[in-house]
Amino acid sequence: MADTNTQAVKDQDKPLLTVDNLTVRFAVKRGGMFSKKSYLYAVDDVSFAVKRGETLAIVGESGSGKTTAALAVARLVNAAAGKVDLAGQDFLTLEGEELRQARTKVQFIFQDPYSSLNPRLRAAAVVREPLDSLTTMSAEEKQETIDRLFAEVGLHKEQQHLFPHQFSGGQRQRIGIARALSTQPELIICDEPVSALDVAVQAQVLNLLRRLQENFGLTYLFISHDLGVVQHMCDSVAVMYMGKIVEYGDRLSLFNNPKHPYTIALLSAVPSVDKKRREQMQRIDIPGDPPDPVNLPRGCRFASRCPKVVDKCRESEPELTEINGTHRVACYFS
Ligand SMILES: Nc1ncnc2c1ncn2[C@@H]1O[C@H](COP(=O)(O)OP(=O)(O)OP(=O)(O)O)[C@@H](O)[C@H]1O
Ligand SMILES: [Mg+2]
Repeated sequence: MADTNTQAVKDQDKPLLTVDNLTVRFAVKRGGMFSKKSYLYAVDDVSFAVKRGETLAIVGESGSGKTTAALAVARLVNAAAGKVDLAGQDFLTLEGEELRQARTKVQFIFQDPYSSLNPRLRAAAVVREPLDSLTTMSAEEKQETIDRLFAEVGLHKEQQHLFPHQFSGGQRQRIGIARALSTQPELIICDEPVSALDVAVQAQVLNLLRRLQENFGLTYLFISHDLGVVQHMCDSVAVMYMGKIVEYGDRLSLFNNPKHPYTIALLSAVPSVDKKRREQMQRIDIPGDPPDPVNLPRGCRFASRCPKVVDKCRESEPELTEINGTHRVACYFS
């Protein structure tokens, strides 16, 4: 008995999601009909892990590959290489019934609930959709589930009959959250879930997500371009730039001791409540443009915009290297 308990505790400690060397590339055609096919590596050899009940934030500017990485984890785009272990299963190789079962474990919440919810379906039907396609519940069980989910996300039963456009932005995101919860997933991928909302509404939705995480032991992959949004929301952070993770670490280590010049610049844009920190942190603008993603430079991808750049940075790409515990940085100056 004691052994079983120890085993259970160990399983609890194991990551729910482990992503190893994930690569996603898109074929792009430039120039005329006979031009050579080239590839854009939207996600380039990326590895991370999320423990059960925890939140990993993926942050970075537009185009850094956050969404593509998440879509590949959920098998919504094809990975060119890499491995995704979800609850002990080799998720990218599953097929048939095993895949259908495993799919119920992962759900998405998107940035813009207006475009991600079918406008012709009433709210109840929006939430019912995943139940229809992924479960074998009876009609009665489905309705009970929908009633419970509406209550859990703070919507009224009467609102089930309304169409998405009859809700406010924050309420629409609550429908999206209810829908994501419907199949009792273990992993929820939140892709910029509050970016389209007013600041006050953002806080309400973030609080709801946190409460649901506690109640149901959910694991979140939380994507945002804004470190400010994730600072109260995450256990660890992966900072992405042009398809690569450039810094990775637990929240305290990364926020208190950022090492990569790109992370430092992103952090400098976050308003701090701490006066001392506010005085220390000068806002750093990142000058210049990112390189052409189809034609990447030889060295560090951030070199063209980095305030610390030296010759070596343009010659070879720094690897993601452990500096302290789980904290890893891809920079020659760390
Ligand atoms: N289907 C596709 N075909 C070709 N290129 C794509 C495709 N999807 C994404 N990309 C490219 O891959 C790169 C990463 O895009 P992605 O949408 O993952 O970035 P992101 O970090 O989510 O950005 P944002 O913050 O704007 O949502 C970009 O250069 C993008 O143009
Ligand atoms: Mg995106």
